[in-house]
Amino acid sequence: MKEKKTFLTLLIVMGLLVPGCGDSNKSEKRQQEGDTLTNNRPLVDDNEQVGSNISYLRASHARYHEYGAAQAPMPIKDPNSKSISWTIESESEEGAIKLQDHIIFMESRLKNNQNPRGWDKLFLMEAYMKYNGYYTTSVERNDRSVVVSKNANTVCAYEVISAHSDAVSGDFFARGDIMRDYSTRAEAILASGACSDVRGDLERYIDERQIQR
Ligand code: HEM
Repeated sequence: MKEKKTFLTLLIVMGLLVPGCGDSNKSEKRQQEGDTLTNNRPLVDDNEQVGSNISYLRASHARYHEYGAAQAPMPIKDPNSKSISWTIESESEEGAIKLQDHIIFMESRLKNNQNPRGWDKLFLMEAYMKYNGYYTTSVERNDRSVVVSKNANTVCAYEVISAHSDAVSGDFFARGDIMRDYSTRAEAILASGACSDVRGDLERYIDERQIQR
């Protein structure tokens, strides 16, 4: 009995002393969750990332509607003020909370210089825009409704958040499809006159971070 106890104590001490040993479970778990930085490049697939609620949103996509209507949520776009707003109604309060949490989670990732879905140039461009202060996001919830507004301060940033909102509306909400790659649309925005000032920086940002799917 005493020998067993001594052996267990030895194992615990080794776990504390050997570098990385005590962290191995945590790091393995983070890797499974897609939450690990490899060579300072954020991992891509956030589908199962704890806190993003993506699996839930994808499975429940049909239970979100345009406020007071049966159709899938649609963004209201105003190119003059470079703003986009959504009023989304969920069939349950839980759904509204999960959606609000998703948006808060994603915004905080972008603000912390991370880029979910690093194989998709559109998401990379949005991450660049958010990190560099080219647009703001606000999200409010009231029972089952969620109001989101995004305000850009350049036309280039507006085009990026506008394209992102089309993906969310037309594919994510309408069909629960999160597999499409929006890089071609992103390239067209990048090549447009609206983005000439930031094109060099954006190209560098994409080069440094884009990873294979
Ligand atoms: C591939 C999985 C997904 C990723 C990587 C992702 C990522 C993001 C990011 C980066 C934002 C922008 C946050 C900001 O601009 O501050 C966002 C916003 C949002 N996401 Fe997701 N999302 C995913 C799936 C979904 C799904 C499945 C839904 C709903 C069915 C959804 C609904 C929304 C909404 C409503 C917004 C706010 C509106 C907007 O940004 O235009 N997302 N998401």
